[in-house]
Amino acid sequence: MKIAIVGTGYVGLVTGTCFAEIGVSVTCVDTNSEKIESLKKGVIPIYENGLEEMVLRNTKAKRLKFTTSLESCLDEVEVIFSAVGTPPDEDGSADLSYVLAVARTIGRHMNQYKLIVTKSTVPVGTARKVRAVIQEELDKRGVQIKFDVASNPEFLKEGNAISDFMSPDRVVVGVESERAEKLMTKLYKPFLLNNFRVIFMDIPSAEMTKYAANSMLATRISFMNDIANLCEIVGADVNMVRSGIGSDTRIGRKFLYPGIGYGGSCFPKDVKALIKTAEQNGYEMRVLKAVEEVNELQKSALFEKLQKQFQGDLKGKTITLWGLSFKPETDDMREAPALVLIDKLLNAGCQVRVYDPAAMSECKRRIGDVVYYATDMYDAVLDADTLMLITEWKEFRLPSWAVIKKAMAKRIVLDGRNIYEKKEMEELGFVYSCIGK
Ligand SMILES: NC(=O)c1ccc[n+]([C@@H]2O[C@H](COP(=O)([O-])OP(=O)(O)OC[C@H]3O[C@@H](n4cnc5c(N)ncnc54)[C@H](O)[C@@H]3O)[C@@H](O)[C@H]2O)c1
Repeated sequence: MKIAIVGTGYVGLVTGTCFAEIGVSVTCVDTNSEKIESLKKGVIPIYENGLEEMVLRNTKAKRLKFTTSLESCLDEVEVIFSAVGTPPDEDGSADLSYVLAVARTIGRHMNQYKLIVTKSTVPVGTARKVRAVIQEELDKRGVQIKFDVASNPEFLKEGNAISDFMSPDRVVVGVESERAEKLMTKLYKPFLLNNFRVIFMDIPSAEMTKYAANSMLATRISFMNDIANLCEIVGADVNMVRSGIGSDTRIGRKFLYPGIGYGGSCFPKDVKALIKTAEQNGYEMRVLKAVEEVNELQKSALFEKLQKQFQGDLKGKTITLWGLSFKPETDDMREAPALVLIDKLLNAGCQVRVYDPAAMSECKRRIGDVVYYATDMYDAVLDADTLMLITEWKEFRLPSWAVIKKAMAKRIVLDGRNIYEKKEMEELGFVYSCIGK
């Protein structure tokens, strides 16, 4: 089977590579020629565990190809997945210009039946727009060619993307024809041989499912951050509360971790977009508005703790950040809380030293040389007045505190992810504060 994946970013590259891995012949398309050129040379533009070997293996086997031209591969393929970006527009709604540009190219150049599957996160009604754009282009050409549209939102997690794609909890597919359902079944069956977990539904429900899932997860995070903040005020320990409620099977243990707010390329924009969709349809998402508000405030939680430590006088202080990416195991810094914090620290007159195992060059690309990029986690704490733990990468979990103690100017640790033990840190001679205790 031959397919094309349009948009070779985090989702497109993983999707294409995983389909190639099960034997599908895949062409990955992207308008970014630099990205395509490096992929052709075997250089992977993103950090994702296990992806590089898989890309190289499938490129070598000639099951995975890269191109900047969708029209050039259109005749060869039957199914086209669109995984282009859907960034927030100025008003918070999803910008569909990339999705519709792909649809237009398909309509202009297709010569036989195609199934067009939207994998990008898009608001309800987008498949209808994709269909209309393709039909408009076919009408302009005066040709009649059958095609189907489908919705197949992606639930992979950056950092665990390959295993999420290869053995998903479930696959959600919105279709409106038997032919489309058969093609999607054929493509996903090899991943789910023993337990076929594809949930077929109508297209609007599939489009909505993705937003509902991300909004639910964002809600759990903001809820726990709110509880954590109250714990601090009333003298409770949020970690205990989390264990206490997480053991209730109706609640479950996952996604109950307080911290410094959610970031990344999905939650912030998807929560915003769902609020906007509701607004455009005369409804108000009251819970989600509060979720957003709590998240914005939470991004300042560590900065406020720092101000308290120095009675508001941060000028000239050297502050270390461990972790820059919005979560571990990725170099993605889109909407990363670290960016908000760095901005606040620089505005307050601090010197900032940073270290991240994967996101250093991405950070440099975004903010330039306004901070010091340390060679390792110990170089980062040299002469620091405070160490802030921002992203819970594994290598930060059990550091050599004796070395750190000697290297730092003052022994203050602010833990934005609650990975250290307060009692232990205090016994080691550090002033320690975390979230919700
Ligand atoms: N990143 C995630 O973890 C994740 C998870 C689930 C869903 N999603 C959704 O998937 C979509 C893609 O996200 P991403 O993180 O992979 O984005 P990304 O920015 O990493 O990749 C998008 C790619 O599309 C390319 N592109 C734009 N217009 C194009 C066109 N007309 N033709 C060909 N290529 C084009 C861009 O150059 C870019 O390389 C978004 O809607 C996102 O919300 C992302």
